Amino acid sequence: MNKLRTLGKWIGGIFLTLILLVVVAYFTISHNINQRIQKPYSFTTENLAIPTDKATLQRGEHLATIKGCTDCHGKNLAGKIFMNDGPIGRIVAANLTRGKGGRPADYSTSDWLMALRHGVDRKGRPLLFMPSHESTVLAEPDLQALIAYCQQVPAVDNELPGHDIGPVAKVMTYLGKMPLLPVEMIDHQKPMVARADTTLGIGQGKYLSITCTGCHRPDLKGGDPVAPGFPPTPNLTSTGATGRWTLDQFVHTLRTGKTPNGHQINNDHMPWKMTAAYSDIELASLYQYFRSLK
Ligand code: HEC
Ligand code: HEC
Repeated sequence: MNKLRTLGKWIGGIFLTLILLVVVAYFTISHNINQRIQKPYSFTTENLAIPTDKATLQRGEHLATIKGCTDCHGKNLAGKIFMNDGPIGRIVAANLTRGKGGRPADYSTSDWLMALRHGVDRKGRPLLFMPSHESTVLAEPDLQALIAYCQQVPAVDNELPGHDIGPVAKVMTYLGKMPLLPVEMIDHQKPMVARADTTLGIGQGKYLSITCTGCHRPDLKGGDPVAPGFPPTPNLTSTGATGRWTLDQFVHTLRTGKTPNGHQINNDHMPWKMTAAYSDIELASLYQYFRSLK
């Protein structure tokens, strides 16, 4: 009986020590992430002339759709709570219009560029979960068109709450499994890309594929699910299942979310409503680029 009690005490002690270790580890991680979230940055400001002709605005509207801006910030760009999940937390995409809760009246082209190219706001505060590591490689005419379009959308009053980053998001960020701090993922010395290939071909496909690399990985070979509850991300190169698809099957999948074997993709897992807006030429270029990868 005594022996049993001693054993019980031992097990209890080990258990308590383990809990204590987990608590200490979590506080260390949480402290680390909070510091990185609050770290102030300073980058050289950039500026661009912003044309407002019809063709530029149309290009800008197209980019706002195919780059996912409207997915996170809402169709009217008035912002929304785009993730609200207990352990991950609440992540809020800003109101980009000039309405209440949106961009201040003096929000300039340089401020847009600071967000899109460096991943910080005008005060140098890191923007959380805003994929600036992708928009930073947009070519100059595309940045001009995107900013031109965003600057003239109608003002919408929409005051939103702040972020509330949960423990799972902190641990995943600490392990490098969640892009919470794009500012840390950008090569800030890299100058703006002067222009991008806009004709059908591998060059355009590569340029467009940046939007796919966040989930399908930089080598586009896919991998583990990007968040808890998501399916694994498939390999899009010539060595994956899509490597055997015809162009028609590829286009049909990206326009309807339905794969050749009849599987309906959930738009929350893979944004096919976004890929549905790509032009025929853009999808054909992506197809050619993926096929060129082994
Ligand atoms: C994955 C979701 C997501 C996508 C896609 C996205 N954003 Fe954001 N964006 C956010 C979030 C979240 C914030 C708020 C960040 C913060 O304040 O910490 C934000 C903030 C911003 C800001 C605010 C900057 C500031 O000064 O406070 C701008 C400008 C912006 N986004 C523009 C864009 C544009 C243009 C696109 C398309 C190229 C885009 N975003 C795509 C999530 C997204
Ligand atoms: C937010 C993450 C995310 C982004 C961004 C994304 N994908 Fe996906 N994609 C997925 C996931 C997850 C699946 C698997 C969905 C499923 O199995 O239901 C998938 C599936 C696919 C498939 C079907 C592949 C197969 O073998 O069934 C194609 C094709 C595809 N994506 C192309 C693209 C292209 C092209 C882009 C960029 C323009 C892109 N994806 C951007 C997450 C993403």
